[in-house]
Amino acid sequence: MLMPKAFLMIQLTINGKPRRFDGDPDMPLLWYLRDEIELTGTKFGCGMGLCGACTVHVNGEAARSCVTPMSAAAGKSITTIEGLSATGAHPLQKAWEAANVPQCGYCQSGQIMQAAAMLKSKPHPTDADIDSTMSGNICRCGTYQRIRQAIHMAAKGGKA
Ligand code: FES
Ligand code: FES
Repeated sequence: MLMPKAFLMIQLTINGKPRRFDGDPDMPLLWYLRDEIELTGTKFGCGMGLCGACTVHVNGEAARSCVTPMSAAAGKSITTIEGLSATGAHPLQKAWEAANVPQCGYCQSGQIMQAAAMLKSKPHPTDADIDSTMSGNICRCGTYQRIRQAIHMAAKGGKA
């Protein structure tokens, strides 16, 4: 006989704000962000942890929200692109704008979140650091050169 799934109250913090969730603990964090609290800056791409479009920070580390169940987000601090900077003034966001990085834009919030996590541990990344860290973030428009340029720019305090 199938037993009903137990739904426990999950508490987490999203962009500094405490939140409670009492639905299916197996539901992906990405669904919660987009469909329940309408933070739609985080994108759905592959749904399998393969493209990086859904990248957010979980306790400061880059994570794929499409394969992060709500149960794994319990008690954690989540940051989405909307929470990276209230005004869009994060150095990466400014560099992204200055370098005119996006083409269609679909992958870009994931790219920025991945890069932001890297800059915390490697404030002055080499090209090799950037390539290895960003290799899981796919851009179908091929903006990789401008992404690399913008990361270097942000690391140098906005200078090209
Ligand atoms: S949508 Fe999550 S990695 Fe592609
Ligand atoms: S800018 Fe179009 S997918 Fe990256």
